[in-house]
Amino acid sequence: MRFDFKTTALAAVALCALGAQAQTGPIKVGFMLPYTGTYASLGNMIESGFKLYVQQQGGRLGGREIQYVKVDDESEPAKGTDNVNKLIKRDHVDVLVGSVHSGVALAMAKAAKDNDTLLIVPNAGAAAITGPLCAANIVRSSFTNWQPAYAMGKVAAEGFGQRKGAKRAITITWNYAAGTESVKGFTEAFEQGGGKVVKELSLPFPGVEFQALLTEIAAQKPDAVYAFFAGGGAVKFVKDYAAAGLSKTIPLYGPGFLTDGTLEAQGAAAQGMLTTLHYADNLDTPRNNAFRKAFALTYKANADVYAVQGFDAAQILSAGLNAVKGDLTQRDALTAAMRKVTIDSPRGRFTISPAGNPVQDIYLREVKGGNNEYRAVAIKALADPARGCKL
Ligand code: PHB
Repeated sequence: MRFDFKTTALAAVALCALGAQAQTGPIKVGFMLPYTGTYASLGNMIESGFKLYVQQQGGRLGGREIQYVKVDDESEPAKGTDNVNKLIKRDHVDVLVGSVHSGVALAMAKAAKDNDTLLIVPNAGAAAITGPLCAANIVRSSFTNWQPAYAMGKVAAEGFGQRKGAKRAITITWNYAAGTESVKGFTEAFEQGGGKVVKELSLPFPGVEFQALLTEIAAQKPDAVYAFFAGGGAVKFVKDYAAAGLSKTIPLYGPGFLTDGTLEAQGAAAQGMLTTLHYADNLDTPRNNAFRKAFALTYKANADVYAVQGFDAAQILSAGLNAVKGDLTQRDALTAAMRKVTIDSPRGRFTISPAGNPVQDIYLREVKGGNNEYRAVAIKALADPARGCKL
């Protein structure tokens, strides 16, 4: 075959141009979040937080414009694989951001591993994602279900202020990964502190038929109740607990999801509740104050923990993209930078563990009016044990 210099040179130029274009054009972020159902408000807050950070950078990260596509995952694990494949195979996203529900996020993590797609988890706390399924291309901006639960177990056993330490507790939750892992984390610390979980109650997700279970709690008269619910289900549970007269005699504890983004709807029923979480509304730092102000101005709504997690997901992506000047082909440098970063979060500064999970302070908060107010640091720089992660 004759070597045709002109054609070869032209082809090379064309290829270079294509490559260069691919690394200067927009980056596609695929949100896979619940936009309907009991977790709908959580999904919306995550998206709003993420977009706020990007907007503050002029719509670009690592020098490249950010574009969005989204899929409503309905908090439905059975549809998880099909939904994530829409984003990976149909929309060809560069980065996946999702989800809220642990079962859905587990399906996403498997697909992200199989396809080597970048995944930032902005909420779901399933242990396996930063445990046995951990991978260089997967990072979480939120928590593991164990983290706030373990802190609550410690506080419930020790007591705080006027609240005496509890000896006998009952747990109640939805029967799926987040609920069972949360109960396990609480039980671990509560029993280390000398308490005993005497009964574990549960109902299927996203059910809200709490009456029979509340009757059972009233009959057992424990010293404390620990509950994992979130979103619409948390609103209903806290109201039903108070309406049953239980809040007057048996303190209701939980990870902060029980009272985050829910206080307006819960009203008087939530007042005085103590919860533990990696965020508190009134953290009086320049970073949190500026974030809450910008969020309120942009969306005419108060930020909550989910908005913070979305904002920080964008900050993690930004750290990666800045390190490689937007060049997604430098994959190892990109994913390494997404772990090496210290995030200046509205929650306070946090680092990311080798397994890809935030190492962060867990706060004790008390509900006062419409806010989850900071009371104390329950546990400083708490790292998830990351059991089963081989990174
Ligand atoms: C979860 O499914 O992991 C989950 C959902 C909602 C929350 C927290 C955790 O608020």
